Amino acid sequence: MRRRTFMRAAGAAAVTLALSGAALAQETVKIGLILPMTGPFASTGRQIEAAARLYMQQQGDTVAGKKIQLIVKDDTGVADVTKRLAQELIVNDKISVMAGFGLTPLALAPAPLATQAKVPAVVMAAATATITEASPFIVRTSFTLPQATVPMAEWAAQNGIKKVVTLVSDYGPGIDAEKAFTGAFTAKGGQVENLRVPLANPDFSPFLQKVADAKPDALFVFVPSGIGAQFMKQFVERGLDKSGVKLIGPGDVTDDDILNGMGDVALGAITTQHYSAAHDSPENKAFVEAFKKANPNMRPNFMAVGGYDGMHLIYEGLKKTNGQGGQALIDAMKGTSWTSPRGPVSIDPQTRDIIQNIYVRKVERVNGELYNVEFATIPNVKDPVKAAKAN
Ligand code: DHB
Repeated sequence: MRRRTFMRAAGAAAVTLALSGAALAQETVKIGLILPMTGPFASTGRQIEAAARLYMQQQGDTVAGKKIQLIVKDDTGVADVTKRLAQELIVNDKISVMAGFGLTPLALAPAPLATQAKVPAVVMAAATATITEASPFIVRTSFTLPQATVPMAEWAAQNGIKKVVTLVSDYGPGIDAEKAFTGAFTAKGGQVENLRVPLANPDFSPFLQKVADAKPDALFVFVPSGIGAQFMKQFVERGLDKSGVKLIGPGDVTDDDILNGMGDVALGAITTQHYSAAHDSPENKAFVEAFKKANPNMRPNFMAVGGYDGMHLIYEGLKKTNGQGGQALIDAMKGTSWTSPRGPVSIDPQTRDIIQNIYVRKVERVNGELYNVEFATIPNVKDPVKAAKAN
């Protein structure tokens, strides 16, 4: 009798243990954050990971009663690796969301997996306009190059610039920037010559020699985040800083991660973008201060704000679905609006792209450090490529 009671009790305990194990497993929501943490684009990975961890530190790791687990993977900037990591995270780790995606090819490679597995993918960095069209499960908290660039063309046309040479990295976002600038600037009567430089190990000098020979009013530049310092060094070596050619472009070339190290050559550069560490708002002051405190010697750039807002979008979505992923989660994210460190933002329910202010900025020295100081705002800008298709 006693033995049987014991067996029954032990059996009940085992069932309880198994149940609570299952309950515990269900209660964890896993986010797979895939980023270039090494290689030439490691600054993007470093910025986004730091911002995602800051968000979790501030907001806690429980949402809708579920424990949030962040799994960070290094794709080294290679698209095949991103795809393999996404597959492993979906199949083995059973993630509810994937996020990160430091460059356009790294966002496109896992898009079919997001669709097949119905796992939402939050693009926090990559910025070619078409990315959100690669899967109905992709949502974006970074920006698109046409969104950031059309205001640059308009500013240039309104400010006495007539002849421009464009110099862009020869892949998705660079081609987007080139086309958006050329289209909008020539429509206002401007003249443009287009040059493209390889993405990998770029040598800018032969292109900069062409710019020196063409003597345009301005040089429009797009290089991905982290590469601007290399460009600036060669710009000075070619003597272009003393040639009177104005430097303009989307804000990637003067990104906050490297801007302060560029020196006086960057002073006066005019760029258009959605984020500056110098953005004057209480939300941004708090963000920059907390980011610097958690990451000494780092200043948040536009990649960091994409990561921080991406985590916010995931948290808000999970609150609405009570922790459920899949179709419910991507649907819950559509139309979400909030006040970001960059200003007011919302997720366009039609395109799953972010609608945000674009600011015109000038590099200035503030308290001894270089910043992109905002001086004009174009409010609530949608990706113009998709807006044109919708009309
Ligand atoms: C992309 C990458 C960047 O670092 C950037 O600043 C803009 C766009 C991209 O590959 O999409």
